[in-house]
Amino acid sequence: MSLVTTKEMFEKSMKEHYAIGAFNINNMEFIQAITEAANEAKSPVILQVSSSAIKYAGIKYLTKMVEAAVEETDIPIALHLDHGPDFETCKMCIDNGFTSVMIDASKYDFEENVRITKEVVDYAHSHGVVVEAELGTLAGVEDEVNVADDDAKYTNPEQAKEFVERTGCDSLAIAIGTSHGAYKFKGDAKLRFDILAKVKELIPNTPIVLHGASSVIPRLVDMCNENGGDIPGAKGCPNEMLKKAGEEGVSKINVDTDLRLAMTAQVRRVFKEEPSVFDPRKYLGAARKEIKETVADKINNVFCSAGKA
Ligand code: G3H
Ligand code: 13P
Ligand code: ZN
Repeated sequence: MSLVTTKEMFEKSMKEHYAIGAFNINNMEFIQAITEAANEAKSPVILQVSSSAIKYAGIKYLTKMVEAAVEETDIPIALHLDHGPDFETCKMCIDNGFTSVMIDASKYDFEENVRITKEVVDYAHSHGVVVEAELGTLAGVEDEVNVADDDAKYTNPEQAKEFVERTGCDSLAIAIGTSHGAYKFKGDAKLRFDILAKVKELIPNTPIVLHGASSVIPRLVDMCNENGGDIPGAKGCPNEMLKKAGEEGVSKINVDTDLRLAMTAQVRRVFKEEPSVFDPRKYLGAARKEIKETVADKINNVFCSAGKA
């Protein structure tokens, strides 16, 4: 199979009410772990790359390794730019064979967001590439903004409709209370499912994306902390809420933090338990296995995309 866009996978997800996992990649171990898990579950999957991942690994290395994963598997795989900061970065990814890009101009005012997004959509569509855009602010406790207290940070459903109509974007990331990183909620986790419902009512055919959707798996946080880490009080989005999001109209769920935790927890464990080990394959192999199990659990039990390839 070759790389695909997200068009067909999203159409099926909207019809059948489940979500597709979009997992961030930085190196070979992440790519292998994610695609092997998805392949075994017969699930479509999105591999996503941030601009800082491109800076770290290089766009050629990333695209060639993804190409290898596509050859080794038999499932639909999309290669997506995560949080594209500007037109030039989106263009570079499109020119290098990405099948999907996100332009994140959500920090600008509405009109500027529309203008920048439309510019990317025009270029992407003329190259057969789809575009995710973002409206609303994914604030969290790390920004010292309690998003639950500030309606202006959430996506406005009427604006979302106007935004999609004016930009022609293919999917839309909305803000309903999630945030990036390992510290998502000060008190109880809360997502605004009412906003999601209103958005789906107004733009039923637009796939909706949920960023900042790691569950910050307590077992992995504990494993990090028990083996010399220092990430106290980390808190993510509960699996029941993510499952509900998939059932109620979210088509793409973004996960980076949980895979970072999986890798770090195992590397720390091996270093602590086996101090004589200095073969990187020992600790990176353990990390890859943990990432694979983490992805498999999400695909099978939370996003419910298993068997949908
Ligand atoms: O949403 C952001 C992703 O977690 C990527 O983070 O820019 O550190 O690669 P990064
Ligand atoms: P997490 O930090 O919750 O994994 O979110 C990742 C993300 O949204 C990538 O775009
Ligand atoms: Zn994100």
